[in-house]
Amino acid sequence: MRKTVEDYITTIPDYPEPGIMFRDITSVLQDAEGFHLAIDEMIRLLDGLDFDVVCGAESRGFVFGAPIAYALGKPFVLVRKAGKLPRETVRQSYELEYGQATVEMHTDSIRPGQRVVLVDDLIATGGTIEASAKLVERLGGQVSKIIFLMELAGLKGRERLARYDVDSVVIYP
Ligand code: PRP
Ligand code: HPA
Repeated sequence: MRKTVEDYITTIPDYPEPGIMFRDITSVLQDAEGFHLAIDEMIRLLDGLDFDVVCGAESRGFVFGAPIAYALGKPFVLVRKAGKLPRETVRQSYELEYGQATVEMHTDSIRPGQRVVLVDDLIATGGTIEASAKLVERLGGQVSKIIFLMELAGLKGRERLARYDVDSVVIYP
């Protein structure tokens, strides 16, 4: 039988803490066919969509976002963790389970009116991608779609993204 993306994802019980089932994408990437399949399936989620820019969230969002942008002939822009971008930025903070995180984009990375596809490897609580979407919007961009390789549906991240078009290749309950 043909392998699916799910076949390439490894699940590590009790990592990084007891009770967590960690879904690992490195096993997808380190297999050439797995990597190809993952990118092809993510691109399929964009079938028929008209958009201008692919935007990936650091760091695993870069691994998937950049090849998608390259394959579709679109620019790729970065949402980075705070303090890494050298030019003028906009910042957005969000809550983590314990504490806070901040992400940034260059102010010139999106032009007003551009239609943006946001990409990450995984949605858990949705905090990272919600903050990324806010940055895109603060720069005048329009979030056309948000795509993930994996969705941890039990964490209900999608509820935070109710106003966006969201799609994932693999959904875990
Ligand atoms: C992970 C993952 C997503 C985010 C998902 O990134 O790659 O970006 O967490 O969680 P959330 O939906 O609860 O925000 P992490 O911050 O671990 O960074 P990394 O990609 O650099 O490992
Ligand atoms: N896998 C990878 N990254 C994660 C996970 C997971 O299960 N949960 C939160 N970030």
